[in-house]
Amino acid sequence: MIALYPGSFDPVTSGHIDVIERAARVFGEVVVAVAPNPAKESPMFTVEERIEMLREATKHVPNVRIESFGETLLVDYAREIGARVMVKGLRAVSDFEYEFQMALMNRNLAPEVETVFMATGAEYSYLSSSLVKQIARLGGAVTGLVPENVARKLGEKLSQRQEVKNK
Ligand code: PNS
Repeated sequence: MIALYPGSFDPVTSGHIDVIERAARVFGEVVVAVAPNPAKESPMFTVEERIEMLREATKHVPNVRIESFGETLLVDYAREIGARVMVKGLRAVSDFEYEFQMALMNRNLAPEVETVFMATGAEYSYLSSSLVKQIARLGGAVTGLVPENVARKLGEKLSQRQEVKNK
């Protein structure tokens, strides 16, 4: 069975990787789909960079495919790739209300596509891409919060930005 795991992944965190690994143990194939823009902020990484980081960080999981979807409804993309299940990670109760609203709206749009919630590992329950970016921008350590390749890429991106600023 194909499961779709959507998100903006700007950038992918260790919490996302945990959900991907869990989903890959349950479903035959997991398609991780990168949405163009995070909900509340402009992205730090291009979709291509986010895809590349995800591919590198999930190369140990054989039944995972990384794709992107454009300005389209998630349920339409699910139908397009033949996914009957959409996986959403829940970190805390605070995620629940918004996720529940989206799950019911998605069911209203496509009753045949089921949303499955997965609890992230407790050690990642406080983690978010936005916080990771904020910490990295302000010079804090992101070790363990994101995969190693992502930590490197964050460093590169921020030093590029610093160079542009100093010009
Ligand atoms: O990682 P994020 O930013 O929380 O992911 C949000 C995402 C991509 C899952 C959500 O914005 C989404 O589903 N976008 C696709 C557009 C859509 O179908 N909207 C209606 C949802 S009810």
